[in-house]
Amino acid sequence: MLIEGKNICFTYEVGGSSFALQEVDIDIAPGEFVVILGANGSGKSTLVRHFNALLTLQRGELKVARIDVRNEQDVWLLRRLCGMVFQNPDHQFVSSVVEEDIAFGLENYKVPRDVIPERVRSALALVEMNGYEKRSPHTLSGGQKQRVVLAGVLALEPEIIIFDEATAMLDPTGRQEVIKIMQKLHRAGKTIIAITHYVEEAVAADKVILMHQGRVLACGRPQAILTNLELMQVAELIPPLPVRLYYDLQQAGIQLNRCPLTNEELAEAICQFRSNT
Ligand SMILES: Nc1ncnc2c1ncn2[C@@H]1O[C@H](COP(=O)(O)OP(=O)(O)OP(=O)(O)O)[C@@H](O)[C@H]1O
Ligand SMILES: [Mg+2]
Repeated sequence: MLIEGKNICFTYEVGGSSFALQEVDIDIAPGEFVVILGANGSGKSTLVRHFNALLTLQRGELKVARIDVRNEQDVWLLRRLCGMVFQNPDHQFVSSVVEEDIAFGLENYKVPRDVIPERVRSALALVEMNGYEKRSPHTLSGGQKQRVVLAGVLALEPEIIIFDEATAMLDPTGRQEVIKIMQKLHRAGKTIIAITHYVEEAVAADKVILMHQGRVLACGRPQAILTNLELMQVAELIPPLPVRLYYDLQQAGIQLNRCPLTNEELAEAICQFRSNT
């Protein structure tokens, strides 16, 4: 396993009794595309912030690429291994020039100076932002900003990339662009962990982790999690539209042969139903 956690517990007030995480077990394999879903305050951000030691493990065990996250001397290694993109790109820029912003991160991690320009160039190419090197990040659109932030993360060549609601502030086109990049990185063998409130973004995941009140409520294939109405209700989440339609049709006496997750699967199931009757 690339990420292996057992019995992780965490509280923000030291010695306090309200747990942000309770007895969380987690396993993430190399190259997996994992989506974490859960209502506000369910502990999603708290959990992923343990992966690169942004938060200190209080109880339980957690290893990332066999590194114990408690090893203080490995914090920089963990941060480099495990890149993170947050919701608001404006909070993530350090320079007023795109290429300098990306180069700054590399300098921080002591990447040799002579390779930095090439790293910056290829990271910007990955997110399709070449040509914007000299721009100020603040003059870019939200989607473009988020892609520059992502380029900064990718330039460090992380093994794992965590997106904590990275699409939340983007319009549908901007969201699609970021999702496309996530999929491209996944195909290139990166391990992707995405937190989102858009359940449709979980449909293509290898694994969905459902969080509720600081615990992992369920973990499995999207088909198993997203079509389980009871589970979704406990997690205070609304299933994807095709799933809701499937159950509405069932109530109306129309039984499709499989619960669809996407519009395409829904259309296919309806066509099959028609040809069978
Ligand atoms: N810095 C903090 N100080 C104190 N309590 C916090 C802090 N950050 C989060 N919490 C609490 O910890 C719990 C889990 O929060 P967390 O941010 O991990 O949830 P989340 O699932 O990421 O929610 P959201 O979807 O709103 O981002 C919540 O009860 C929250 O109020
Ligand atoms: Mg959060």
